[in-house]
Amino acid sequence: MEVVIAAPEELAALAAGTIESLLARNPEAVLGIATGSSPLGIYDDLTRRHSEGHVSFARARAFTLDEYVGLASNHPERYRNVIEKEFASRVDFAPDAVQGPDGLAEDLGAECARYEAAIVEAGGVDLQILGIGSDGHVGFNEPGSSLASRTRIKTLTEQTRLDNARFFGSHVDQVPRHCLTQGLATIMSARHVVLIAAGRAKAEAIHHLVEGPVSAMWPATILQHHPHVSVLVDPAAAGRLQLADYFRTTHAAKPEWQGL
Ligand code: F6R
Repeated sequence: MEVVIAAPEELAALAAGTIESLLARNPEAVLGIATGSSPLGIYDDLTRRHSEGHVSFARARAFTLDEYVGLASNHPERYRNVIEKEFASRVDFAPDAVQGPDGLAEDLGAECARYEAAIVEAGGVDLQILGIGSDGHVGFNEPGSSLASRTRIKTLTEQTRLDNARFFGSHVDQVPRHCLTQGLATIMSARHVVLIAAGRAKAEAIHHLVEGPVSAMWPATILQHHPHVSVLVDPAAAGRLQLADYFRTTHAAKPEWQGL
């Protein structure tokens, strides 16, 4: 696990540069994309690189992590619509190249199985972008999630609903209670995981992710078992890392050609 501590713009550029290099090597790469506020800087940076002609998504595909259950198809906070607005519509993905689990499916269990199969059929995710919840969730794998879980229905914790109320006009009662989410084992199947976090509210979760014991109580800790994880954090989110000085020294000494 590599930890980079830097300003948010620098972290977004680092992640976007990594995605640009991946697509230069493999224009048909499969991206795993997240919603929420953490990856927005990456999407802005990728959009700029695309408009300057440095990167194309025309042959790439992308899979979103999760979706609320039951939000109307035109609801602005439906993750399919959020990702379209924040990223997909701003670059040149082919129609239908970006997929997400359907939170309006009649048979939600079958939809989860279909989604898992679609990811496998695409050849698996080459690079997965992740945010992290203040309770340590990734995707919507809340504390107590099976470390071996696959895409399934989950109930959101009150903490996550409170955290996300800001997207629903601060009305926590409007935040759905259920979601479909890739499981922790699904996320672990990605070949490279890039997790980005900023702000003091994430410091405890980042401490557990990097330095805590692996435990379903802090679901992101499963990433300690992944061979290629990049954790990109601003100084506030790194505020509780005991090894912060080591991570800063290591990154400063890293040759640029090595990338993430
Ligand atoms: C979003 C997702 C969530 C968020 C997490 C952090 O698709 O899966 O795990 O990444 O809740 O959200 P933000 O980035 O808004 O703090």
